[in-house]
Amino acid sequence: MDCCRQEPVDPSEARARLLAQHEELRGIIDGAEEMTARLVAGKATGDEVRRKLAELDRALHDHNAEEETILEPLLRTVDAWGPVRIEQMLTEHAREHGIFRQTLDEIVASPPSHMAGAIRGLVADLRRHIEHEERSFLNPELLKDDLVTVTSCS
Ligand SMILES: [Fe+2]
Ligand SMILES: [Fe+2]
Repeated sequence: MDCCRQEPVDPSEARARLLAQHEELRGIIDGAEEMTARLVAGKATGDEVRRKLAELDRALHDHNAEEETILEPLLRTVDAWGPVRIEQMLTEHAREHGIFRQTLDEIVASPPSHMAGAIRGLVADLRRHIEHEERSFLNPELLKDDLVTVTSCS
């Protein structure tokens, strides 16, 4: 396509960027969990929890969009995974991102009495997702620092 351009991306830089975003996300996830504990204790309102979840939603949206763009060229640097496996991983990964945001939307729309259990489930799933990424495609043992290419359209 005419609109497409190719930008070289250094895998170690991409990895460092995504890891830094993970740290930021962990802080927001911890904050959402703390706010949920305050809600259960009667020390926070449903709207305060919703504001925390809105912060998490924004951070997840920005991170997931960047990760999905960066992920494909990162995965292609790993010789052990063939193209079919890579395609499956990309599809599954994007599907999980979609589920997280849908779950967040549902929690925000729910009454405060229904929030705590759903938030605890979500934060556990998010932490598992992040840990899995760091063991798999963000693991420096698996990545080579060769030049890779990102194709993007403006
Ligand atoms: Fe992800
Ligand atoms: Fe991630």
